[in-house]
Amino acid sequence: MNLVPMAEILNKAHKENYAVGGFNINNMEFLQGIIWAAEEMDSPLILQTSEGAAKYIGMDYVIGMVDAATKNTHIPVALHLDHGGSFEFCMKCIRNGYSSVMFDGSHYPLEENIKLTKEVVKAAHAVGVSVEAELGKLGGTEDNVSVDAKDATFTVPEEAVRFVEETGVDALAIAIGTAHGVYSGDPELDFERLKTIKGKIDMPVVLHGASGVPEADVKKAVSLGINKVNVNTDFQQAFTGKIREIFAEDSGVYDPRKYCGPGREAIKDKVIEKITFLGSNGKA
Ligand code: G3H
Ligand code: ZN
Repeated sequence: MNLVPMAEILNKAHKENYAVGGFNINNMEFLQGIIWAAEEMDSPLILQTSEGAAKYIGMDYVIGMVDAATKNTHIPVALHLDHGGSFEFCMKCIRNGYSSVMFDGSHYPLEENIKLTKEVVKAAHAVGVSVEAELGKLGGTEDNVSVDAKDATFTVPEEAVRFVEETGVDALAIAIGTAHGVYSGDPELDFERLKTIKGKIDMPVVLHGASGVPEADVKKAVSLGINKVNVNTDFQQAFTGKIREIFAEDSGVYDPRKYCGPGREAIKDKVIEKITFLGSNGKA
């Protein structure tokens, strides 16, 4: 596969103060819609699968499709595991060719999160693969990661400093008020906390749960040091929304190309919109 380590993409974004999309794929149409948009925008790209999506698609199919998609691409692309839940699954992805993994130990106590993340970093870095980890707990649900709003906790800046020093991660996902999935109210981001954390750790910082967050808030977060913005739900809604529209107009449609094709176009349009306000266009 024609991939680069995620750190290469994010270190440049950190230096030049923009963000790159960590865009989730759920099937072939997602992959095509996303990479075609990034190529058109001349933007670097982080393609990611959750554990659930990798299992749904099948690891061999993920690799085969990403290989086909990146063979002749002119943009830097990383293939990243999103919210890896175990050392074993992270290693499985690395063995299969992912250029980056996230180990999500955010539900463990700090000491345990540090210990487990460190083990993943040691193994991944030995073969040139990047690692993202998370500190603080986002509310909401993403596949196998589910946190009740009352259990969500923001990232503590001092803990972030200790965490990155001791683990050696390439990027840190922080909790500053976003949540996974569909928001029930308006998200309120703690920009002061972001500013403090970025000032202390001076490295790529990641925002999860960016679907449904107003564009102005995401832009502000990027201006304050977010370098990777994760989006899944917005693309799922764009894809499914377009398909619903098509069926509402003509319930007799049966050829999947007649609704998955427009669904793929809807994802592509959304990705173009996101890349534009993340500021990664022209950065390939
Ligand atoms: O890890 C993936 C993201 O955090 C996606 O969150 O589905 O709310 O956009 P989202
Ligand atoms: Zn996430």
